[in-house]
Amino acid sequence: MTANSDALKRAAAAKALEYVTPGMKLGLGTGSTAEAFLELLATKVRGGLSILGVPTSDRTAQRARALGIPLAALDDLAPLDLTVDGADEADRDLSLIKGGGGALLREKIVAASSKRMIVIADEAKLVARLGKFALPVEVLEFGHRSTAARLAASAAFLGYGNVSITLRHRDGGVFKSDSGNVIYDCAFGAITSAQKLAQAFADIAGVVEHGLFVGMASTLLIAHPGEVEVIESGK
Ligand code: 5RP
Repeated sequence: MTANSDALKRAAAAKALEYVTPGMKLGLGTGSTAEAFLELLATKVRGGLSILGVPTSDRTAQRARALGIPLAALDDLAPLDLTVDGADEADRDLSLIKGGGGALLREKIVAASSKRMIVIADEAKLVARLGKFALPVEVLEFGHRSTAARLAASAAFLGYGNVSITLRHRDGGVFKSDSGNVIYDCAFGAITSAQKLAQAFADIAGVVEHGLFVGMASTLLIAHPGEVEVIESGK
């Protein structure tokens, strides 16, 4: 991360803090931008702000605990008032690609359990069309290669040519999510209809969840140098 993108992430995170009010039940996202939000939130908590958080990953839980942010289980708090999370890509229709950090399953469950989802990002994440960032798809380990073949067939059926579908690795081994699943990164180049693709991938046996978030975000906070742009859902 460059110093500049670091500052932009912080600016977006600072803007998100304006939406937090005392007593809120908050979904806490995963990734470097979400962590910038955690740090700013922790300062407010130390200053007396009372909130309860639900983390979207083990990593976020660990970071939040270290910062002194009180946490609770989703099922003890749902519905949440607000989730603040980052994204790998976002478009102006507020469709997102998430899961670069491997937390897409819990991120989607927490966002779906929230009345509002605010996405914070630096301007590099705002795209005219989703798909340059490879779409992460969380797949059950059982039979995962046959599930990957169904992903490829589904993409071809929808008219996407040459989608490279790669099993994610980390530290010399196969990457496992917090829920013990594997992830396939699907490089589309450009996604023509996020809605259609989201539906098609959701219907594939073996797919636990995919990283397309369509119709979930209520607000995008995009940090440009000197300004945070607020993009609201048209709904
Ligand atoms: C993790 C995510 C993150 O929100 C996404 O990867 C963005 O991360 P960062 O803020 O570090 O760029 O979806 O699963």
